[in-house]
Amino acid sequence: MTDPFDKHQFADQPDYCSNPVKMQARNQIVEAYRKSTGLNFVPKNKNYWTFCNKQPNIEGSEVVQLVKTGFITKNQFFGVDNDLKGEGIIEFNRSCHPEANWFQGDWLEVIEDNFELFNPALVFFDYTKTVVKTSCHIYLARTMNMCPSKTVVAANLMLSDGHSSKRFDPKILVESVINYLRDPQEWIVSDHYFSYKSSRTEMGTFIFTRT
Ligand SMILES: C[S@@+](CC[C@H](N)C(=O)[O-])C[C@H]1O[C@@H](n2cnc3c(N)ncnc32)[C@H](O)[C@@H]1O
Repeated sequence: MTDPFDKHQFADQPDYCSNPVKMQARNQIVEAYRKSTGLNFVPKNKNYWTFCNKQPNIEGSEVVQLVKTGFITKNQFFGVDNDLKGEGIIEFNRSCHPEANWFQGDWLEVIEDNFELFNPALVFFDYTKTVVKTSCHIYLARTMNMCPSKTVVAANLMLSDGHSSKRFDPKILVESVINYLRDPQEWIVSDHYFSYKSSRTEMGTFIFTRT
């Protein structure tokens, strides 16, 4: 059994699980969902999908945080990670939270292969790419095209790359994604995004809601 408190086994990964800034960013997404839908939690027949990384059984991890606030139950949590470095992320998460749903593989492929399970109320598109990458706009739009009516998609992307002081224009994302949506008229884009700084990188979270 993997030790959930052994941080060394994931030494290459940024620490998303004990970072108060990351926790606050997740709270903002939940608030945005509540504001957008008028619902306080994810309805019973719906689920929550996210790029997961490691999720130990500690307060700062995404699944624990969301379950603790009553926003979802564990079985409504769907986490996907391609685990390109072969760190055993999914196996580890499964051992910590067997009631939740864990998939190893490419995000879009996992969703396409398990489309009968894909019934999200909220999608946390927590992607470590910059807002200016066209490939990322297409990837996000392909995700949004698969979402049912009333889904909220929170796209979390980099506003700077951490290597320079250059800050990208956040408008690029919204203006570009629209071009790749099958039904752009069905999407409401929140008129403001929120941003936070995680280490040296500024992140921006953009909220899209399907009518
Ligand atoms: C920012 S982390 C997720 C953090 C997590 N949502 C949280 O709140 O703690 C992003 C994860 O996505 C994974 N990832 C990146 N591209 C992916 C892809 N195309 N398909 C699946 N997983 C991917 C990375 O391996 C990384 O672990």
